[in-house]
Amino acid sequence: MSSDSVDYGALVWSDDLVLGIEEIDAQHREWIALVQAFERAVRDGGTAEEVRRTLAAAVAYTESHFADEQRVMGEADYPFLDDHVAQHDLAWDRVHAFASADGGAGGDDALRESLADFLPQWLMLHINTADRQFARWHKGEPPCAPADIEGRVFGDIPV
Ligand SMILES: [Fe+2]
Repeated sequence: MSSDSVDYGALVWSDDLVLGIEEIDAQHREWIALVQAFERAVRDGGTAEEVRRTLAAAVAYTESHFADEQRVMGEADYPFLDDHVAQHDLAWDRVHAFASADGGAGGDDALRESLADFLPQWLMLHINTADRQFARWHKGEPPCAPADIEGRVFGDIPV
């Protein structure tokens, strides 16, 4: 890990995640920070208000980040945009289902725990695989190998 690495606990930003596309890299860094804040609120037994607030911020940023990233890919005429959008949509459906079922006050702790497990892992895998594929294509490099099946924490959601 480089000296620029920031340890967010289970979810870690490091220079290894830099794709070389400034707008996307800046958003990934912010996205990780927001998801980590939610994860921390759940893990550390934050107040219901802290959990609700950090979840809302993470979910809102996830949606706007996906839209921005897809716009960047579309403007670049990325040939695999449809596949990337499908991956975002599958993850978004999962996140949205968790977030909706949470229901605010009196929400289910197990649901929050599940989302605090899912989102950080999916995010790290997605940046390191699908987003990296785009970065390589953007730089004119050959595509890297498909994600190892071992890395597919959630078999029903491609990364
Ligand atoms: Fe993406």
